Amino acid sequence: MIKLLVKRYLLIIGMITLLGWSLSFIDILMISKGGKIIDYFGNNNLYELKRNLKIFVIIVVISLFLQTFLGWLFSYIRKKIIFDSEMFIFNHLIYLKPTALLKFKTGDIVNRISKDIQSITLFFNKSYLDLVKNCSYILFSFVYICVLNKTFSTFFIIYVIFLIFVTIFFTKRVQKFYYGYYNKYAQKNAYITEVIYGLITIKSNLACKFFGSRFKSILKDTLNEGYRADLVSLLGMVLTLFVVLLFVILSFLMGLHFITKNILTLGSFISIFAVYISNSNKISNVYNSIASIRANLAGIKRLDEFIKEEREVEQLPEIRFSKKIILRNINFRYDNVEILKDLNLTVRKGEFVCITGKTGVGKSTLLSMLLGFIYPFSGDIIIDDERVDEDEMLGLRRIIGYLPQHPFILDGTLRENVEFGEKYEDSKIIEVLKRSGLEDFLNRQEGLNTVLKEGGKNLSGGERQRIHLARILIKNREIYLFDEPTSNVDRKTERIILETIRELKEKGKTIILVTHREAPLKLADKIYELKDGKLKEIKGGEK
Ligand SMILES: Nc1ncnc2c1ncn2[C@@H]1O[C@H](COP(=O)(O)OP(=O)(O)OP(=O)(O)O)[C@@H](O)[C@H]1O
Ligand SMILES: [Mg+2]
Repeated sequence: MIKLLVKRYLLIIGMITLLGWSLSFIDILMISKGGKIIDYFGNNNLYELKRNLKIFVIIVVISLFLQTFLGWLFSYIRKKIIFDSEMFIFNHLIYLKPTALLKFKTGDIVNRISKDIQSITLFFNKSYLDLVKNCSYILFSFVYICVLNKTFSTFFIIYVIFLIFVTIFFTKRVQKFYYGYYNKYAQKNAYITEVIYGLITIKSNLACKFFGSRFKSILKDTLNEGYRADLVSLLGMVLTLFVVLLFVILSFLMGLHFITKNILTLGSFISIFAVYISNSNKISNVYNSIASIRANLAGIKRLDEFIKEEREVEQLPEIRFSKKIILRNINFRYDNVEILKDLNLTVRKGEFVCITGKTGVGKSTLLSMLLGFIYPFSGDIIIDDERVDEDEMLGLRRIIGYLPQHPFILDGTLRENVEFGEKYEDSKIIEVLKRSGLEDFLNRQEGLNTVLKEGGKNLSGGERQRIHLARILIKNREIYLFDEPTSNVDRKTERIILETIRELKEKGKTIILVTHREAPLKLADKIYELKDGKLKEIKGGEK
């Protein structure tokens, strides 16, 4: 992730580096001019005093200009980087293979896209500049001290080397602890999401106290991890400051000694001392920026784990389906549980196939395979005499209308839920709503503008299913997959839905319907029972 962004923003990063160096250089220049001005003031050398004062003012103005430019650059880069990285991660989520999605909890993914992504901006925005500025400042100070006094410079090197060791030792641990903290933080958020989804169940099982105390222990655990990370960071910081202050005192005493020996002028002493004092600040800043870069890297590592997961192709391939789909000797398992074993099925174009079978036997899994959500471990999927691979298989989605067992409802109007990203005439929407047995909605005051809440919270299970049915009918696809389309509705609504499915059959659509109910079986050309991972044809249209 970081490599990708560095590549994309190389120019801007270069500019930040250059500006960081320039600002530090200017700071040192100011201090050096300040020292000289004091000396010229002491000697009463008015000509040089004036000349240096002028240069001093020019330097201050340049510094102001550069700082303003940097401020603007940051606002710009923040906007660009947040946009690019959030888009990148969101697209990754959208195109992720459904099997990869199963590895993460919902709340954890939300956390990655919201909180962890901030690590990237913090990294580019502040931590990196601070590091460049402070490191270059230390380097320039070193050069400046070298020019003024050799003893001071040796002293300076020892001090910096010592601090590098302290920084490396502590910040490495900071990253490790923050990574643990970020993971726990995400799990805590995932738990909150889980509780929101299950609130009704939790309340109805009188389990509020249990879930409350579980949250308490998760929260404690999470915060303790963060606390540990902070403590390690603080310990390194205190040690750094201690070393810095020790060296400031030593340099002060050494400076006084040099003045009495006439090795150093008062102006130079004040400049060197100013450099030492300001360096004490810079060095603790370097520690802080490395510690925060390390903490940000922990967040970026979590993003990297997510973007490592495999994606589907973005552009679904075109697919030809004019004769039949054959599943030949299909084997599929979830983890180590075999679901489909040497399964065979042929569905001809225009055919209506019903699949029944006990619960948990793999009926929905079979439909998922036809949608390309999963691919068999062995066996062939053949469309119109040609074997299709995993990527080609995704092309089927272009021609499939799929009614899942647990339909998804968008937080929006009835119209938006039916159109689902496309645009249709009102008359067309009304027609599919009627065909889906949803006439009642049209009689409501807001009609097509009735607001449906997130996840269909304000709908019945059967209504959710029928809204999804309208959504796929309007798209007019070649193949329809129905997973228990009438399991949640009364007999009257079942009749309306089956009538619609019968019309689809008459229009020559290919239909695969999974059901436990008797009524849909009567419409089918073929009925199969899924048992022990295989399909067995049931003759005579009876179960
Ligand atoms: N993502 C998954 N990971 C692991 N196992 C899974 C997963 N999804 C489903 N299963 C298991 O696979 C088996 C088949 O599930 P599937 O949903 O296909 O059954 P089904 O025949 O549609 O059942 P139902 O009639 O209850 O809808 C079940 O035992 C289920 O527990
Ligand atoms: Mg099912």
